[in-house]
Amino acid sequence: MKGIILAGGHGLRLYPQTLAISKQIIPIFDKPMIYYPLSVLLMAGIREILIISSPDHIDLYRRLFGDGSALGMHFEYAIQPAPAGVAQAFLIGESFIGDESSALIFGDNFFYGSNLTEIVERAAGHDDGGLVFACYVKEPERYGVVEFDEHERVVGIEEKPRNPRSNYAVTGLYFYDNEVVSIAKTLRPSGRGELEITDVNNIYLQQGKLKVERFDEGIVWMDTGTPESLLEASNFVQAVEHRQGLKIGCVEEIAYRKGYIGRDQVLKIGNYVEDNAYCEYLRRLVE
Ligand code: DAU
Repeated sequence: MKGIILAGGHGLRLYPQTLAISKQIIPIFDKPMIYYPLSVLLMAGIREILIISSPDHIDLYRRLFGDGSALGMHFEYAIQPAPAGVAQAFLIGESFIGDESSALIFGDNFFYGSNLTEIVERAAGHDDGGLVFACYVKEPERYGVVEFDEHERVVGIEEKPRNPRSNYAVTGLYFYDNEVVSIAKTLRPSGRGELEITDVNNIYLQQGKLKVERFDEGIVWMDTGTPESLLEASNFVQAVEHRQGLKIGCVEEIAYRKGYIGRDQVLKIGNYVEDNAYCEYLRRLVE
């Protein structure tokens, strides 16, 4: 399975923070935002990653991760000329995906929970149809919203409905079989002029091939596209890391625990700066 991180868009809700930098580079507490979605793909056991961003920002990600070998992974990069919708990821990523299945995650989505690794590892084994996750939220109208019938079966997904039919929002983490590329090619821009991931999901649903898994309260999901949500996510990470002494979204740690990199590679990064809490954490991890 291949992994795609979508890290483009204008980030207008975070203006002027995004005037000179890419939104998904802005830190959530102690690390760049993109580390968190990357860590989810790592947990799932996905080692080949495509990062898609705007022409102005793609080199920032290249500088951040290079070819991925420092994490025992393989990274590629692609440009989205303009933010024409998230489902365009599968058109831009067609040759990267090849004949494999793929996972897409948004560079501004944050997931945390004790059984998250288990959930996403299982999802990565899914290679027939689509698999998405739904999470109970207070303001469903901001998202793709799942509609259920009286037997709790999913009957549709509506993008940003005025009158949401449930409180279950579809999160920015999607797993698809190889058909997703052909499906993406059939899409037409929506009313807001975007190629919608919700249209992809509804096509899978009509074919009887969409699985919607509900997250229980043990999973925290946030999208971090506004100043408030960014601060909330930072406060959350700071509080958990301070209390537990364990880091969230530490990609080197996950790569080490997965056996992608060894002690020497962790120490190489850990020894980068002596007086730095992140580096110190990595040194402690292997000592
Ligand atoms: O966060 C989950 C929601 O994400 C889903 O519930 C919705 O169904 C889905 O459409 C999407 O909704 P948003 O309108 O919130 O997506 P947004 O435009 O914020 O884009 C998500 C991320 O993808 C964001 O980090 C910016 C990036 N992006 C967005 C577009 C439209 C791109 O890189 N390129 C794009 O063309």
